[in-house]
Amino acid sequence: MSSYKIASIPGDGIGPEVTNAAVEVVEKLAKTLGTFQINFTHIPWGTEYYKKNGQYVSDNALDELRQFDAAIFGAVGAPDVPDHISLWGLLLAIRGPLQLYANVRPVRTFPGTRCPLNTATKGIDWMLVRENSEGEYAGQGGRSHIGQEWEVATEVAIFTRVAITRIIRFAFETAQSRPKKHLTVVSKSNSMRNGMVLWDEIATSVSKEFPDVAWDKMLVDAMTVRMVWQPESIDTIVGTNLHMDILSDLAAALAGSIGIAPSSNLDPTRKNPSVFEPVHGSAFDITGKGVANPVGAFWSAAEMLTWIGEKDASDKLMSCIENVCAAGKVTRDLGGQCDTKEVVEAVCAEIEKLK
Ligand code: NAI
Ligand code: MG
Repeated sequence: MSSYKIASIPGDGIGPEVTNAAVEVVEKLAKTLGTFQINFTHIPWGTEYYKKNGQYVSDNALDELRQFDAAIFGAVGAPDVPDHISLWGLLLAIRGPLQLYANVRPVRTFPGTRCPLNTATKGIDWMLVRENSEGEYAGQGGRSHIGQEWEVATEVAIFTRVAITRIIRFAFETAQSRPKKHLTVVSKSNSMRNGMVLWDEIATSVSKEFPDVAWDKMLVDAMTVRMVWQPESIDTIVGTNLHMDILSDLAAALAGSIGIAPSSNLDPTRKNPSVFEPVHGSAFDITGKGVANPVGAFWSAAEMLTWIGEKDASDKLMSCIENVCAAGKVTRDLGGQCDTKEVVEAVCAEIEKLK
């Protein structure tokens, strides 16, 4: 029987609430199916760790993570620490150095969830692919004359042929694996005349490797309009770190709630463990209330199961989650009455039926 070592990094805010829920559900699934073993190791990185140790992660964080087959992550960010310190301290300290360059974000309307688009009566089924290693989040820049009237700050976006080529190719492969075989390449190559032009040129050249994939190009601003007015014309989307960060929140909201949206930070070369996390953040406004929607964390855990080789278990978990949503056992962000614990119990009861 296959056995997997998974790091669990709950982090801050509602991160622990939804990550612990996901661990409970996956452990229940493994025990019920009896076809694989899974061992979670808790890693306490986050703002509490930072306040004690002066840093968000341990000194040898990357090597520590490399001992695992994969990791699940909750969220990072606290009201009393500037967001750029927390995000760079934890999440961005892992994504870049481990070269988790493909951030994959499926978006789908679930049974029982409300899609606010009246044009999309059938709901949404998209796959968003975000460049996750450079671009606008490369961390290049600086500040001079701090606090002076003539203060200046730069934030330089970095676009390399290597990173663009690998993410565009990954996106074409992803589109090719889906029934519609359609890719939209998003950029902003009208006003950004260097990096974004390189991006478009590489898309055109890589597209020649995929004659069976239909593709089109969109400027990012126009893409927001298309997502709202022509959702059925979209299947797979690829874009830069910043553009897809924004478009994926929009996509999640259009599908019903940010609380259900999952993401995978993948190293497609499999040299490093990949990290799976809900799209949402620490959600200070609902932290500690026990009402966070755990579905984004469940779905992320299901993506992790597929990635490590347990596709059958992953599909079963997804159908359990969908049954629970269809039965209206959902949290308030989806218009329901349940708290986190009730959703966990409902999903575990569905898993029990798999016996
Ligand atoms: P957020 O995603 O934490 O919250 C936005 C809104 O969505 C809030 O109203 C929140 O209550 C709601 N929401 C989010 N997740 C939910 C869930 N599972 N169930 C029900 N409602 C949910 O984004 P915000 O407020 O911009 O950021 C808060 C903190 O999180 C900041 O420190 C930010 O830097 C951090 N952050 C961290 C991320 C990560 O660790 N991957 C991603 C986004 C933000
Ligand atoms: Mg975001």
